[in-house]
Amino acid sequence: MRVSLISTALTALTLLVPAARSQPTPDEVDDLAAIGLKNRYAYDAANEDSRSRKCNSSITAVRREWGSLSKPERRKYIDAVLCLMQKPPISDPTEVPGARNRYDDFLAVHINQTLSIHATGNFLTWHRYYVWAYEQALRNECGYDGYQPYWAWNKYASDPINSPIFDGSEYSMSGNGEYVKHNGTPATPWTIIPPGPGGGCVVTGPFKNMTVNLGPVNPTLDGVPAQQGNGLNYNPRCLRRDISVNASMGWTKTSDVTSLIEENGDIYWFQTVMQGEFEKGSLGVHGGGHFTVSGDPGGDFFASPGDPAFYLHHAMIDRVFWIWQNQDPKNRLDVVSGTLTINNVPPTRNTTLDDEVNLGVLAPPVRLGDLLDTTGGPFCYIYL
Ligand code: CU
Ligand code: CU
Repeated sequence: MRVSLISTALTALTLLVPAARSQPTPDEVDDLAAIGLKNRYAYDAANEDSRSRKCNSSITAVRREWGSLSKPERRKYIDAVLCLMQKPPISDPTEVPGARNRYDDFLAVHINQTLSIHATGNFLTWHRYYVWAYEQALRNECGYDGYQPYWAWNKYASDPINSPIFDGSEYSMSGNGEYVKHNGTPATPWTIIPPGPGGGCVVTGPFKNMTVNLGPVNPTLDGVPAQQGNGLNYNPRCLRRDISVNASMGWTKTSDVTSLIEENGDIYWFQTVMQGEFEKGSLGVHGGGHFTVSGDPGGDFFASPGDPAFYLHHAMIDRVFWIWQNQDPKNRLDVVSGTLTINNVPPTRNTTLDDEVNLGVLAPPVRLGDLLDTTGGPFCYIYL
């Protein structure tokens, strides 16, 4: 069954070749993805019983790069996100008084759990499950028939503003914010990103009229104050961005991605380098992607999912994790490292595979160890 799953995926790759003509040129990250898929195919062929049998060839989802989607495919995704923003919230109003729609439910859960899902043992699995739950909501509640696209940062690192993700067209995730004079972005206590050409409200593309309702908790955009309390009260405002080529070229180039995958065989180092070694002045690809968007709420690590580009960014985080796992499936499908608290502050015990990953109202709790395989547990997808 596993064999047929992956062979079908490889067949799908072949069938998609005609559509690939207009895609950005394959790069070294795509090469590592292809090598990984082959490794995984060989591993599964030799370990027939190792994983869930629920994910079979007929239902395997293929998540694709934004720029490789056709315009109608991009528009279907965009419309599903706009639909989610029109649906009523399901959060408990006493816990999340500021939630006004289903999109806010996702943002609220991230704000609520920020200090126990970043620089922790569950960072990669929590966010994998979170993006999946969002994809499920788009499909099940908003009639979306595609899958979660990802933002291949490295393909657009030299010019993100003119990329198909941020060019401001009707087929983009909206453009940069309007220029407003502003100071640099204090991404960490050790790194200030110079002010970019935005900083104001997003006025182009599908999300130009969007209202951000929750947060910010830890804003990094000049002139945007934190809301009082826990960030879950109603604080309606425009979506602001300050797209930064400084951040994209600093931490999300092709070499940044390939070195992360190739030079960090240990899960501890892989997730640490990915999330950034702040004291050394590195934001990692994780921080690099977030601060390429920047602004409000994009530059607030509590409320960053309030910018709809978040989900494309974190799909790429998940893809890089998937590529890394597939370089050595035998040793990387059951790995966890870290503790329960951010940077182990305050000190807590080590995270284990038997810990529960909890998404509150978004999805049922799942054992962390069941979230390590994208074709096992609740999941059934691969990346192209
Ligand atoms: Cu997060
Ligand atoms: Cu993140």
